[in-house]
Amino acid sequence: MVKSGTYYIVTYGCQMNEYDSQRAEAVLESFGYIQGASVEDASFVLINTCTVREKPFHKMESLLGRIYKDSGGSKGVKVGIMGCIAQQEGERILSRFSQVSCVMGTDALVRFPQIFPRVMAGERVVDIAMNPADYHIDSFKVTPNISMYVSVMKGCDKYCSYCIVPFVRGREVSRPLEDIITEIERLALGGTKEVTLLGQNINSYGKNLTNGGDINFSSLLRAVNGVDGIERIRFMTSNPWDFDEDIVDTMAECEKVCEYLHLPLQSGSNRILKSMRRNHTIEEYIRKVEYAKAKIPGLTLSSDFIVGFPGETEEDFQQTMEAMDVIGYDMVYSFIYSPRPNTKSLAMEDRAQKVGRGISVPLHEQKRRLATMMDAADERRAKDRATLQGTTVEVLVTGASKTDSTTYTGRSRQNMVVNFVAQSQAEIQPGSLVTVRVDAVRRYALQGTHVHVAV
Ligand code: SAH
Ligand code: F3S
Repeated sequence: MVKSGTYYIVTYGCQMNEYDSQRAEAVLESFGYIQGASVEDASFVLINTCTVREKPFHKMESLLGRIYKDSGGSKGVKVGIMGCIAQQEGERILSRFSQVSCVMGTDALVRFPQIFPRVMAGERVVDIAMNPADYHIDSFKVTPNISMYVSVMKGCDKYCSYCIVPFVRGREVSRPLEDIITEIERLALGGTKEVTLLGQNINSYGKNLTNGGDINFSSLLRAVNGVDGIERIRFMTSNPWDFDEDIVDTMAECEKVCEYLHLPLQSGSNRILKSMRRNHTIEEYIRKVEYAKAKIPGLTLSSDFIVGFPGETEEDFQQTMEAMDVIGYDMVYSFIYSPRPNTKSLAMEDRAQKVGRGISVPLHEQKRRLATMMDAADERRAKDRATLQGTTVEVLVTGASKTDSTTYTGRSRQNMVVNFVAQSQAEIQPGSLVTVRVDAVRRYALQGTHVHVAV
């Protein structure tokens, strides 16, 4: 049943998109709209899209079909599309999907307060203008969570050969340091204990700020480390190209920065890394990781990998598996290569196809490599995490079981999910930092018992 004055946002893709959805929520709530329980409830549905891989486009299409059918031809329901697909497709979305009444590109969110009333008045609006030099954010969620994302820069200048992000998110623009700190202070006052700083290529933060060069990612980390009330700092994504010893030293020096690093490797083969235009070798990557491990005791690592990149041979794939083994990741996020418009790797594939020397890896082989990689990653995580059995970890509590007052969940500094039980009367609530003894290691979570509240 559609309820008027109710919104629902469906988010696909990365943390950046989740962050943008929170900003959109803040705008809708400023108009008195309330969040519905599901898509079926809402009179305004916003779909925040991703285009890094092809799948989300199909998900968006089928969701639009469903909304149209359920609402009997979308009467009384308005639908907006935002995010990367919106940026890429613009006007075409309006002509293709009659049920859509607004398309907002990746930079249009700042104008959402003006766009929304026009849409409500019956206009169909497309806004895919980019604001190249400006990154001010002005809409914030009223009640922050224990753990929150904070955007520190937008866009990416790296142009990895497979990646669409530079085309749909534009050039790198850093957000002014004062704006970031003001937002984090506001979050801390609202009860937030952990912030995850977000940027596509976060280690190059500050490069385009006009500050005489003294604001960079390290000074940002130090500034956030100084915000009272914040207990933990995480950040993503680090590109190995810009990740350097100075950043590692700063991570080691700032006590709030967690012992966790997401450093996408994508491939362990130098030939493929070159073809991906990642601008580093596997040897350089390993040197950086070894430096970080030596400086930051207890550091855990995670990575993204692409399997079945054009031209990837079994030998290249085996080199990736070996690299994974040498480096030892706690979490591995692996993806089958997805050809994207405008990218160099797509052009490369097409050229090879034309001259009859195809370089595309067949889907069944891509799937096999993906499964092999995921199995190896699971096995490695289980082996490494087994050593945690019987030790204690610091947990930031993010949730309590609704049905059982002694069961809680949270994360360790190393970003592992920890479920634990506590004796009754223990003063534990979301936001508490507690010490937990690890009793068992499950597939994706540690199971433990509360020992005492950390001081
Ligand atoms: N800025 C980040 C990544 C952004 S995209 C970085 O520097 O790594 C997130 C992940 O999606 C990438 O790390 C990559 O593993 C994956 N990805 C990006 N483009 C892809 C494509 N065309 N096909 C498959 N996976 C892709
Ligand atoms: Fe994409 Fe490479 Fe930038 S993966 S987001 S072009 S660092």
